[in-house]
Amino acid sequence: MFNADRFIKESVTTLKQEIAGKTLIAFSGGVDSTVCAALVNKAIGDQLIAVHIDTGYMRKGESASVEKLMRNLGLNYQFIDASKEFYAALKGVEDPEKKRKIIGEKFIRLFEQVAKKENIDYLVQGTIAPDWIESGGELRDTIKSHHNVGGLPERMDVKLVEPLRDLYKDEVRKIARVLGLPVAERQPFPGPGLSIRVIGEATPERTALAREACHIVETEIEKAVEKGEMEKPWQYFAVLLPVKTVGVHGDKRAYGHTIAIRAVHSIDAMTCSYSTIPHQVIDKISTKITNELGTRVNRIVYDVTNKPPGTVEWE
Ligand code: XMP
Repeated sequence: MFNADRFIKESVTTLKQEIAGKTLIAFSGGVDSTVCAALVNKAIGDQLIAVHIDTGYMRKGESASVEKLMRNLGLNYQFIDASKEFYAALKGVEDPEKKRKIIGEKFIRLFEQVAKKENIDYLVQGTIAPDWIESGGELRDTIKSHHNVGGLPERMDVKLVEPLRDLYKDEVRKIARVLGLPVAERQPFPGPGLSIRVIGEATPERTALAREACHIVETEIEKAVEKGEMEKPWQYFAVLLPVKTVGVHGDKRAYGHTIAIRAVHSIDAMTCSYSTIPHQVIDKISTKITNELGTRVNRIVYDVTNKPPGTVEWE
């Protein structure tokens, strides 16, 4: 049985011994990076610099709330809005692995710049066990190049610190609860962000559709959970498909995009089963998306695939 109190104590002691210099962390505001930052902050205080990069592929209002969180945690932080750069880098790119590699590279470049300027010696990463296992870290195939694995330490000539490397998500959440972090129950969000929830080219316009649809899915599901109509899924979001279909808007023919709703139950993200969410909830989501996204989206589908054979994200 995992003991979060003990882990925190031991981890802070180890981190104090392990780190002897200025340290950088990429702060996404997710459970993993927030727990990491809180632990390392306990160990070394202001020697830690948290950096949040707004890639332009964040969810609605997300980067602003991440900045607030960094401030509230008393972190020494920097906020970088690099959305234009990321959009430019992904222009014309459709292949999922290329998208992941390009985003990973850009992150590395931006971090290198901060690391050089700040004379960084250590880099903290919120890698958890499923990340490196699925990125081919064991005797397995690379399923996807998870964005927070590999690349950084070799390029940056810094020592890598991974306090959560052997943990699974439920264990990280336990630590977050013990530390009283407001992100303990947040659903996971992938490093490449909405770019991998826009199938095909992730232009700013297409990303805006996925962002709004994700927001609607999150809001409606959270409302239903609050009302006791359903259990909270592990993850729930929307995906913009590269498929246009014929519909009718008012009394006119429409030819618009398709959005897939995805909601899954999982323990550790290694496997998942699709959530059997109540039809009235799907109904509300569908109506809201098509009402709010007007002529641009006119078809909503629900993903009923488990992992395996699917994965949680579509790319
Ligand atoms: P998949 O889609 O591989 O996702 O079944 C498993 C879990 O990992 C999340 N995910 C990522 N997390 N960087 C991350 O930190 C990534 O590049 C990444 N890709 C997927 C996904 O949302 C799910 O929770």
